[in-house]
Amino acid sequence: MIQRYLGNKGRVLGQLLAVFGGHAERGDHVVDLFSGSLAVSMAMKAAGYRVSANDANLLSYVIGEAFLVPSTVPEADLSLLPAEHRDRLLAESRRHVRGATGFDVSVAAGRTDEASSLHALAAWLNEVTVADLPTGAVRFDIFNTYSEDGERSEFTSLRGSTGRRRFFSGANARRIDLALSQLRLWARSGRLDEPVRAYLLASLMRAVEKVANTQGTFHDFPRDKWDQRALNPIRIEGLPTDPMLSDIAGHRVGKAEDSRDFVKTLEPHKILYLDPPYNFRQYSAYYFLLNLLCRYTDIDDLEDYFSKVTYVRGQNPEDDFVSTFCRSSSFLSDMGAVMRDAAAETVVVSYYTGRNHWSDFDRGRDDTGLNLLRELMTGSMFDADTFEALEVDRLNYASYGGYRARTVQELILVAKKRKGDSDARGSADGGIPEVA
Ligand SMILES: C[S@@+](CC[C@H](N)C(=O)[O-])C[C@H]1O[C@@H](n2cnc3c(N)ncnc32)[C@H](O)[C@@H]1O
Repeated sequence: MIQRYLGNKGRVLGQLLAVFGGHAERGDHVVDLFSGSLAVSMAMKAAGYRVSANDANLLSYVIGEAFLVPSTVPEADLSLLPAEHRDRLLAESRRHVRGATGFDVSVAAGRTDEASSLHALAAWLNEVTVADLPTGAVRFDIFNTYSEDGERSEFTSLRGSTGRRRFFSGANARRIDLALSQLRLWARSGRLDEPVRAYLLASLMRAVEKVANTQGTFHDFPRDKWDQRALNPIRIEGLPTDPMLSDIAGHRVGKAEDSRDFVKTLEPHKILYLDPPYNFRQYSAYYFLLNLLCRYTDIDDLEDYFSKVTYVRGQNPEDDFVSTFCRSSSFLSDMGAVMRDAAAETVVVSYYTGRNHWSDFDRGRDDTGLNLLRELMTGSMFDADTFEALEVDRLNYASYGGYRARTVQELILVAKKRKGDSDARGSADGGIPEVA
């Protein structure tokens, strides 16, 4: 699964699970409303909860369809592979699956064939050539738009500087294009089930983020240099299937919905986990390229789509999602609204002392944001005296402005909703404080 996701909670999973464990039992329904990389949702699933997740970024839906929603390893249609390569690819994948970490539970559960088939389809994406695809099915949109030698990779910045996008080396961009052309052909033939399409896209995204010429997000790329990683040849490899397995059925993922709406569709749940954006950074712009890969097989008119890309980064503005959580003026009222609209027993919020709406990170710690959240979570929507705040130190590697790594605190805020507010949706105003 993807690893370079801003604000992903991979480093505090242990602490989060300990908190969840105090408020929910195995089999209970829990919710991850800003699921991003799915790091927390997948840890919840592994801990035995029934998980509902949603994020405005489509990449989160795709990872969720691939790994969160299934309870077993799905079957893939091996006849999609060219007959002359099928047996070899399958034999190689079977060897891989039998020996590699992350497949052992699938093997023990008797899903070796299914895991090998998925892996073989992913391996083919690494090999497919122009000659293997019908004329007209091969497109070079990624090469043309996001690599220096592409015909429409020029950009002009708001300040008037010009250049060419260099998210990928030419060779890597062409490999991504061949993989996407094959995936599009398979998807449009109607023979690629959604969990299989999602698995292949998740495997492609993981390969892409390893060779992207970025400092982590796709908001921009180094204008005059290459990240060493971007010079490595891309290698698309089927991701481990063990995270799919679960004794609990009924996991659910929203398809890039606004969580302010998604929350209203959820059945009662023990835990509502909220990890919203804490500052101005819009995730749909930061990860537009991974979202585009996820959308590619569904775009009817690719010519039209790519004719509209703009900004230095080359995003089609129609894909943009402007999050109200990225504005200090609406952050707190929207947090209050999702807490009020959730049929949740306990609310757990992640926050941090790095750069947030009320702190520029540079002048030392400023607890304004924490204090506002505390005011919300000790207000009339919550049971008196249930509020807790945990702090976990971690190094922040934020690279803007040439700053060095510094210690910030990950905050985990917990409070129990008042009984009447947890089994039904909350009361009208929920005691949401006003923010100037
Ligand atoms: C701090 S990140 C979450 C990281 C996640 N917990 C993880 O471990 O990867 C915040 C997320 O909120 C999402 N987001 C922002 N506004 C949203 C909204 N209104 N509805 C749904 N998701 C939203 C962003 O796309 C982003 O993935």
